Amino acid sequence: MSQPAVRLMEVGARDGLQNETQILPPSIRAAFIQKLANAGLRHIEAGAFVSPRWVSQMAETDAVLKALPIRDGVTYSVLVPNEHGMAMAIENGCREVAIFTAASETFNRRNINCSIDESLARFEPVIAAAKDNGIRVRGYVSCVLGCPIDGAVPIANVVRVSKRLYHMGCYEISLGDTIGAGVPSDVRNLVSACAKEVPVEQLAAHFHDTWGMAVANCLAALEAGVRAFDSSVSGLGGCPYSPGATGNVATEDLVYLFEGMGLATGIDLESVVNAGDFADQYLGRKTASHVARAWKAT
Ligand code: HMG
Ligand code: MG
Repeated sequence: MSQPAVRLMEVGARDGLQNETQILPPSIRAAFIQKLANAGLRHIEAGAFVSPRWVSQMAETDAVLKALPIRDGVTYSVLVPNEHGMAMAIENGCREVAIFTAASETFNRRNINCSIDESLARFEPVIAAAKDNGIRVRGYVSCVLGCPIDGAVPIANVVRVSKRLYHMGCYEISLGDTIGAGVPSDVRNLVSACAKEVPVEQLAAHFHDTWGMAVANCLAALEAGVRAFDSSVSGLGGCPYSPGATGNVATEDLVYLFEGMGLATGIDLESVVNAGDFADQYLGRKTASHVARAWKAT
C-alpha cells in the first residue's frame, strides 16, 4: 500500500474526551478507538497517564489499553507528564508516548504544576526510559500562538522549547495552538521560525478551532511544508486549563480537505463520520465537524 501524503494523529480519545464533562468508561473509549482504527487512522492517542485528580476523564487509561487488540500498522500513543506516567506506559506495553510542555510559563504551571525548564528536566529520565524500552517519544508545545492567561507568546519561546524537545530525542514536535486564536499568517511565521531549528518534516500542527481558523491554519501549515496534523473526530475536546477553548480541528474536515486536494490520507470518510457519531451519542453532543454535518445532509 502506498504511503499517505499526509499523516493524521487522531487525538479525539485523549484531547477530545479529556475536556468533556461526561466521563466515558474504558470499554466505550476502547470501542471508540477501535472504530477510529477501522476508519484507517494509524496514529491514535488512546489516553493519558496523568493524575486522575487533575484530569479525571483520563483515569483508567490502563484499562483502555488492555481492551485494545494489537493491530498491524496502528500505533496507540499516551501522554506522560513525568516518570510516574512513563512507568505506567512501560507497564502497559506502550510503543509510543507523548511528553508535553508549553511556550508559556503560566500555562505550564497551571497544566503540569512546574516551570518550562523544570518540565524539560523531568523529561530527561522519561526519554532515557523510553530509549531503554524502545518506545518512541513525541513532544508537544502548548500555547504556540497565544496563552489563555498571558495572551501573546513570543515565537522565540516556541522555537527554544521545540528545539530542546527535538534535541532531547522527540521524533516529532507538535505545535499546539491551544486557544485556537492564530490565523494563517501567524502559522506561516511560526513554522518558518521553528523549521530553522527543527526539520519541517519533524513538525506537526495541533490546532484547536475556537475561532474557526483551524482548517485555514492547517492549510497554511501544509503550504509551509508540514505533513503531520493532529485532529479530533467530530471536533471533540478542548483543554481543561484553557477555559473557553474548543476542540481540535475535526478529523472529518481534514480528510475532506486533503483528499479533495489529491493528498491521500488513508482514511475512509464515512467510517470516520460514524466513529464520531459513536462518541457523540455517548456524550450527548452534536458534531462540531462541518464535513460530518454536510455528509449527513447529502
Ligand atoms: P503534582 O500535584 O505537582 O504531582 O501534579 P506530584 O508529583 O506532586 O504528585 C502528587 C500526586 O500525584 C502523588 O500522589 C503522585 O503519585 C501522583 P499521592 O502521593 O498524593 O497519592 N502522580 C500521578 N498520578 C498519576 N499519573 C501521574 C502522576 N504523577 C504524579 N503521571 C502532574 C503534577 C503532572 C501529575 C499533574 O499536574 C497532571 O497530571 N497534569 C496533567 C494535566 C493534563 O493532562 N493536561 C491536559 C493535557 S495537555 C493538553 O491538552 C495540551 C495539548 O493537547 C496540546 C495543546 O493543545 O496545546 C497536548
Ligand atoms: Mg490540544
